[in-house]
Amino acid sequence: MINARLKITLGSLPLKNPLICGSGEHLIEEAGIIMALKSGAAAVVAKSTNESKLARQQLDKTDYSMVGQNLTQLDWQKDKGLSTSLFGRSGLISIGSEEWLRTIARLDKQAAEYKSYVVASLIPASTSSLIEYAELAQKLGIRVLEINIGAPHGIEAGKDIRLTFDPIKASEIIREVRKVFQGHLWAKTSGMSENVSQLAFSAKEAGADAVVMMGRVMALIPDLNSMQPILGTKGAYGGRWALPITCRWLSESRQLLESNYPLIGTNGARDGYDIARMMLAGATAVEQTSAIFTGGFEVIEENINQLNGYLKEKNMNASDLIGVTSDQVESYAQQELRPDYWRQFVSDDALNKKL
Ligand SMILES: Cc1cc2nc3c(=O)[nH]c(=O)nc-3n(C[C@H](O)[C@H](O)[C@H](O)COP(=O)(O)O)c2cc1C
Repeated sequence: MINARLKITLGSLPLKNPLICGSGEHLIEEAGIIMALKSGAAAVVAKSTNESKLARQQLDKTDYSMVGQNLTQLDWQKDKGLSTSLFGRSGLISIGSEEWLRTIARLDKQAAEYKSYVVASLIPASTSSLIEYAELAQKLGIRVLEINIGAPHGIEAGKDIRLTFDPIKASEIIREVRKVFQGHLWAKTSGMSENVSQLAFSAKEAGADAVVMMGRVMALIPDLNSMQPILGTKGAYGGRWALPITCRWLSESRQLLESNYPLIGTNGARDGYDIARMMLAGATAVEQTSAIFTGGFEVIEENINQLNGYLKEKNMNASDLIGVTSDQVESYAQQELRPDYWRQFVSDDALNKKL
């Protein structure tokens, strides 16, 4: 049964609710994709692929760490929660891209029974292979294709996982894909860019139907005991702390692009209330990955129920949330003048009172 309160339309794509299960290791095997569909996700973004052997081999070199607020490693099984962060290195799916796209096409047909979608995700290495796979996705009837031009691991992987900070390059890539793929095209942008909104704008102008923002950031966590880097390397880092940063870019992008252009939030949303927060900042839908990867597929149903509870309480539909907070953001220039107000925030020692 579809809950009318939760329905949204992403551009011209109807979604039964705003929760999209974002790409990650829990969506490498068919079982995970089917579980995500059964658990009620409006769409499931399958693990990403490209033609690079090294990007695939990287899957055999991955490692993941749950990091607590005091920046020490926690127990993966026990210590899950809203305040933990996920640090790790990831790779791309190990089977061939063609085989994976054929599997996704079959699962996407199955997904229609759940009024959902299985989204194919491509991370560019060479443009020619990217176009070839986008053409194949079109031929196979895959309904939604996500192009991730902002995978943080690209910093380490170089040309095997191409990461784009340049809006002109972003636009070139999306434009080429748009020529061969007529289904719903989503562009996923980097969160390490100095101007995420500009990347979003370029992707939109090049023909993307929606922009997903924003990718995680690369980080390094020194371990105080061993003095070694946690996991031995730099890695991608994300946590709920990223949500306000994502919300800011959603809001900036809502202003720069037309307000009805669909944005998909990702990076930092852990529960159903966080989905609402990203929607209030301007997202039409939200991709959740870490919360589901670490917490299991039951998180999907829990988060949808939590969002539904919030909407009931507010007597609103999901679509009513989009951009409400964003549209009330004022500039610094608009703030009232309050001389000496800052004094309330510093200790007495810092004030000239005692001199
Ligand atoms: C272990 C792991 C693997 C990921 N693999 C992919 C991937 O293959 N393709 C992709 O586009 N994003 C990938 N991501 C990024 C997520 O889809 C998501 O955008 C990011 O983690 C931020 O959302 P979150 O805070 O809900 O985790 C991965 C994230 C994690 C944690």
